[in-house]
Amino acid sequence: MDEAILADSLLVERRLAVEDAIEDLVASTMDGTDAPAMELAKEILLAGGKRIRPVLALLAYEICGGSDISEVMDFAVATELIHTATLIHDDVYDGAKLRRGVQTLHEKHGLDRAIIGGDFLFVLGFGLGGRYNEQVVRIMADTSASIANGELKQLQHVGDLSTTPEDYYQIVRGKTAGPFSSGCECAARIAGAAADEIIAMRDFGMELGIAFQLVDDLLDLTGDERMGKPRGTDVHEGKMTLPLIHSLTLLHGDGRRQLAELLSNFSDNRWDELESLLTESNSFEYCRLLIKNHLERALENLSIFQEGEIRRVLENLTQQVMTRHV
Ligand code: IPE
Ligand code: IPE
Ligand code: MG
Ligand code: MG
Repeated sequence: MDEAILADSLLVERRLAVEDAIEDLVASTMDGTDAPAMELAKEILLAGGKRIRPVLALLAYEICGGSDISEVMDFAVATELIHTATLIHDDVYDGAKLRRGVQTLHEKHGLDRAIIGGDFLFVLGFGLGGRYNEQVVRIMADTSASIANGELKQLQHVGDLSTTPEDYYQIVRGKTAGPFSSGCECAARIAGAAADEIIAMRDFGMELGIAFQLVDDLLDLTGDERMGKPRGTDVHEGKMTLPLIHSLTLLHGDGRRQLAELLSNFSDNRWDELESLLTESNSFEYCRLLIKNHLERALENLSIFQEGEIRRVLENLTQQVMTRHV
């Protein structure tokens, strides 16, 4: 079989392994006293996320020599539970209506239940992750704290047209890239990796995570319904993403004034106007170039590992971030 096809089928296998573990957890929880909370949380948990964080955890473990996936599976599932918890809460303060192609929890069940559902998944995630050593648990706690701080900083900058690229990067590291990075790092630690491998995995995850959020922010402007969430949510919310920050910096005179006014009074019938301003300042291209750079740096971190099937799968996954539409 062609090597690329082999790598793809291994990726599918890992996704299925993650999916099975999550489904087993849901089924066993539904048999116990936590059934009401899981009843709520499972709507989003099982609605078909990409599972990139837990899959990365499995692959990071394997590339570092881990040979028994069941050893890292609880940690992998924990990353997905905590991630889904942050999405449930993120959708509350973003006022989002759709997530993973289904109604958000707060839309369907109200704010109180969405907060409870999110908290429940957080705690469940920490329960699973808490089975690992102190260092892993500490990294998970630090990462969750950084998500909170990233989201807070993002809130501070809503509608702030003077937001800088540095502000943006700080937000992205906190809310998205940090969890990618620590997920890969912890999985490496669980595999008993050497110090240089742990660092390579941590840096790989950071670069991949930055690229992942940059793509997400680009898709908010250019994507379609395949994302399972509506286009333009960021613009409607006044979220200062990099294409907008870049365009505000590059344009001057009337163009800059027009963009500032547009961002302050955005409505769906003004998409063409926004697109043409962002095109004029080459902001889409600029972001695509940055994404490519971050992905190349991610790939460089893989070069210390032996060439082989798992490395190829991680390389494929990295490349897929560039071309993803969902
Ligand atoms: C959404 O994450 C939030 C971001 C960090 C962009 P994903 O795009 O991984 O969402 P799911 O898990 O596949 O739904
Ligand atoms: C990711 O940010 C949210 C978290 C990491 C909690 P976004 O707000 O951009 O994610 P989407 O676009 O809602 O999926
Ligand atoms: Mg959001
Ligand atoms: Mg987004």
